[in-house]
Amino acid sequence: TIDPVSKICCIGAGYVGGPTMAMIAHKCPHIDVKVVDINADRIAQWNSDRLPIYEPGLDEIVHSSRGKNLTFTTEIDQAIRAADMVFISVNTPTKTFGVGAGRAANLEFVEKCARRIAEVSEGHKIVVEKSTLPVRTAEAVKRILSNTANNATFDVLSNPEFLAEGTAIEDLLEPDRVLIGGERPESIEALVDIYANWVPRARLLTTNLWSSELSKLTANAFLAQRVSSINAISALCEATGADVDEVAAAIGTDSRIGPKFLKASVGFGGSCFQKDILNLVYLCEYFGLPEVAAYWEQVVRMNDHQKQRFVTRMVRTMFNTVSDKKIGIWGFAFKKDTNDTRESASIYVCRDLLLEKARLCIYDPQVSEHQILNDLEYVFTEGDNKISEAKRELIEQHVTFASSAQEASSDAHAIAILTEWDEFADADFEAIYSTMKKPAFVFDGRNRLKDLGLKAKGFEYHGIGF
Ligand code: NAD
Ligand code: UGA
Repeated sequence: TIDPVSKICCIGAGYVGGPTMAMIAHKCPHIDVKVVDINADRIAQWNSDRLPIYEPGLDEIVHSSRGKNLTFTTEIDQAIRAADMVFISVNTPTKTFGVGAGRAANLEFVEKCARRIAEVSEGHKIVVEKSTLPVRTAEAVKRILSNTANNATFDVLSNPEFLAEGTAIEDLLEPDRVLIGGERPESIEALVDIYANWVPRARLLTTNLWSSELSKLTANAFLAQRVSSINAISALCEATGADVDEVAAAIGTDSRIGPKFLKASVGFGGSCFQKDILNLVYLCEYFGLPEVAAYWEQVVRMNDHQKQRFVTRMVRTMFNTVSDKKIGIWGFAFKKDTNDTRESASIYVCRDLLLEKARLCIYDPQVSEHQILNDLEYVFTEGDNKISEAKRELIEQHVTFASSAQEASSDAHAIAILTEWDEFADADFEAIYSTMKKPAFVFDGRNRLKDLGLKAKGFEYHGIGF
């Protein structure tokens, strides 16, 4: 038998490790939770008044436990050694080099964690894969853990995370399900007992290790596929006079299809959809299933097409040139209510507009100028991971920042709405219209302003899929 867990260590204080551990600490005052990271700046931010990630409700949850049973620290080895259960919640980005570059997951960080755990542990521990991993990673983790310095023993569980950014706290409070894959029933039960402190037992699903690992990639692939499917239809709507929001509402009432995740957009972003599908594609190829790989790869291709299509439509509509025209960019985050810009559609839309030599004035309520410049510089890097002088100049001479949506649009030829922040609907459109060049074009990549009567206010309004 295994004693109930009283000490947890989570390696990786990121978008997943931080909020999930804060929730466990909040709901389980009897468990001591230590979140560790090699990034000392990030740990310092978790210990400050300004947390490293913006997430509605997160501050309250962190403050309720920090300094009591929730600690953020860089003392990794001590925290691992003391814990009964160690979560691995580090990043698993797409590999950018070597075998599988551009597709396979880079498991370097996960492997380093497993090796660290093997080296410093004593006694028995449960190691939990929280990161999203290719199916069968637990096999490698188990082998690494079998070479231990102090005769420690381990059980490995897979417990993928399904929270979405922007709603992380809601999702953690009331998850549709918590998935736990493992081999030894006692270890599975130890983790079930933790979640059972606030999640109804009927929502705690247990499976074998491989089903759990694969379910995470599959869930993200299905979700992204819905977005690419409705985005594909949005192109047909624009060509035919149908309205994609009406089509989505009409098909969404079919209980077999359901209404969620059918919002046509400028394209999905975020750190995971593309990375996880590419990983799935790589796995299918690895296991000799090229047709299955091609099927899923199309979801990413359609998403790339949607972003390009948006820019092409802007350029064509604006008399085939945006060169030297000021364009107000509303939103840079990959969705509302987060400061995360990873793989945001905005990055690619801004890149393509810059290549057209447009002048961009960017506003996002939560993303820093520093982050936006980093993202734009990164998207222009070439094979050697360096940005050319010409591209750096392009950015320097064509990108400025504003501290409000209105300021970003002043004297502009067009506005491009790339994130669906609620505050955009409250802008003073009469004032904005009066300062813009005419025709005052609005390209709404989120259909956020669709019902606000912008045409009647004088704007030339274009959304997605109508
Ligand atoms: P992140 O980049 O925000 O955080 C990962 C952290 O791990 C970083 O702070 C990094 O410094 C730290 N780290 C890396 N190697 C380390 C090591 N050897 N020792 C200690 N710390 C180390 O990543 P994230 O968004 O939290 O994602 C983590 C995992 O969760 C990924 O596999 C991702 O696919 C998955 N996931 C993410 C989300 C999401 O919404 N972001 C949702 C579900 C699942
Ligand atoms: C997604 C999944 O929803 C989570 O379940 C999963 O845990 C997570 O990935 C992960 O593994 O990282 P996230 O990327 O945070 O969560 O946010 P989503 O709400 O899924 O949105 C992803 C992207 O799709 C955003 O750019 C969003 O704007 C776009 N989207 C979403 C649409 O364009 N239309 C929709 O109908 C829904």
